[in-house]
Amino acid sequence: MKVVLIGYMASGKSSVGKLLSKQLEIPFVDLDEYIEEQQKMTISKIFSEKGELFFRKLEHQMLQKVLEEHSSLILSTGGGTPCYGVNMDTILNNSDHSVYLQLSVSGLVDRIANEKDQRPLVSDIEAKDLAEFVGKHLFERRGFYAKAKHTISGDGKDLDTVVSEVKKLLV
Ligand code: S3P
Repeated sequence: MKVVLIGYMASGKSSVGKLLSKQLEIPFVDLDEYIEEQQKMTISKIFSEKGELFFRKLEHQMLQKVLEEHSSLILSTGGGTPCYGVNMDTILNNSDHSVYLQLSVSGLVDRIANEKDQRPLVSDIEAKDLAEFVGKHLFERRGFYAKAKHTISGDGKDLDTVVSEVKKLLV
């Protein structure tokens, strides 16, 4: 079974993916980590040294490669993965389940504020401007996320609750 988790930065894709993989005994791949291993460089460094366009091309190639390489997997994508080129179609055509982990703008801002520095797209945004940035950015991206087969709201829910809700969808 192939399950792809999508959603905005800090929506919990990696944490949900790891726990789901453990409980279902299905291999886990985090697309950002996979890219970092392939390039032997952090995502922040890829952005700063090679630029976002280079990253997006790589992200597209690695998404296809990971989905082709595995007959069964839980894949956590990057927040922008479904929003570029044909990536969302690739996800829909090569997975049994795609799940959008949806959080409100305020929920996302609370989480992102704590780890802003590791995220190249928001590292330069001042804390006071973060809500406006995330609100606009999410508005642009929502249409892509909404194509997922399933949507789960993560607001006010702990990790175990979200994972058990995802599991119920995978029938
Ligand atoms: C990005 C999200 C990041 C990472 C890169 C770009 C985005 O992944 O892929 O910094 O465009 O939203 P996370 O969602 O895991 O932070």
